Amino acid sequence: MREITGAVIERSGSPVVIETLRLADPLPGEMLVRMTAAGVCHSDLHVRDGDWVRSGPVVMGHEGAGVVEAVGPGLDPSVVGQSVALSWLAPCLRCRECQRGRQWLCVGSPAYRHAGVDGTPRLSRADGTPVLSYLSIGTMSTAQVVPASAVVVMPDGVPAEVAALIGCGVSTGVGAVVKTAQVRPGDTVAVIGLGGVGLSCVMGAVLAGARRIVAVDISRTKLDLAGSIGATHAVLADPASPEATIEGIRAAAGDGGLDFVFEAIGNPATVAQAIAVLPPGGTAVLVGLTRFGQQASFEVFPFVDGGRRIIGSNYGSAVAAVDFPAYAEAYLAGHLPIDRLIDRRLALPELEDAFDRLRAGTVARQVIIF
Ligand code: APR
Ligand code: ZN
Repeated sequence: MREITGAVIERSGSPVVIETLRLADPLPGEMLVRMTAAGVCHSDLHVRDGDWVRSGPVVMGHEGAGVVEAVGPGLDPSVVGQSVALSWLAPCLRCRECQRGRQWLCVGSPAYRHAGVDGTPRLSRADGTPVLSYLSIGTMSTAQVVPASAVVVMPDGVPAEVAALIGCGVSTGVGAVVKTAQVRPGDTVAVIGLGGVGLSCVMGAVLAGARRIVAVDISRTKLDLAGSIGATHAVLADPASPEATIEGIRAAAGDGGLDFVFEAIGNPATVAQAIAVLPPGGTAVLVGLTRFGQQASFEVFPFVDGGRRIIGSNYGSAVAAVDFPAYAEAYLAGHLPIDRLIDRRLALPELEDAFDRLRAGTVARQVIIF
């Protein structure tokens, strides 16, 4: 048992309160991780703002890195002291999807219960009230007990803030391009929405050898950042005139048209644009998550007639134990400039301000440093 400090929301839609909590020791199959960095992802904002209904109280955060401090009974202690990235989908490694290598579709993960491996929380308030940990890792806290399958050791030399981003935004965006869509050298791609996830799609497209990379956002600053990491064309979107945005994307894609368009916002209007810009044979890859219950629509005849496709990409089809070290090695080799995505570092008590900036769309990726 030890004391930690965590960013707690009472329920979806309520503001963050920084609280002192009690953290129990790890059970078999769990590890105690001292957090070193935690990214602020739009999915946290979906929970904070009540777009996604979750029970509470819960410690926020699902993108993080840390150092292993202790392991539960029966686990190999040689991992103690190692720098790690955390996966927000601790795979159960037993269900059918895990067994066939599709861990991003795991149905037995403790993450869905926001608790430890036995389904009960490790955190509590001084009065004994149990406190959940978002997706079983609740990274916006000074330390957590997490499922061992969420823990991935990082190669030497990877900064904590880079490891944190590998835990969600980078894997979600890069993986959507290289794993889910399997973009090939010479392909033409567009990315709509240039937050941490969309900028990672741009990096993934560069890594895959895409010839033309069209970046689309309502912010000029984001377009400039995308250009500096390898986007070849920029389209300033005007939400008031989607037709103009669609024409702009088509023009930037050139004669061959788009092979793939990635929607990295989770807005029905931009999902519709992603489908509307497709030439025959093109594929829309939906990466952004909407509010629960959202619908989007498209014209059916040309979609079928032109052999177009729509695919959903969850967590960039990540198998964390394999993909996280590979993305880290690509960073170290200079092929994934993950550090370029980080434009603000903050302390845990500044989290509400960080959410305000994320809502306003004025930042790329903000990282809490512990
Ligand atoms: N057209 C183009 N760009 C837009 C539009 C629009 N209509 N509306 C917003 N954007 C841009 C914003 O300017 C911002 O750059 O989309 C980007 C969204 O980025 P973030 O809010 O930083 O979100 P991010 O953390 O990257 O997550 C994106 O992926 O995993 C999901 O839940 C997550 O749905 C979220 C999405
Ligand atoms: Zn995320």
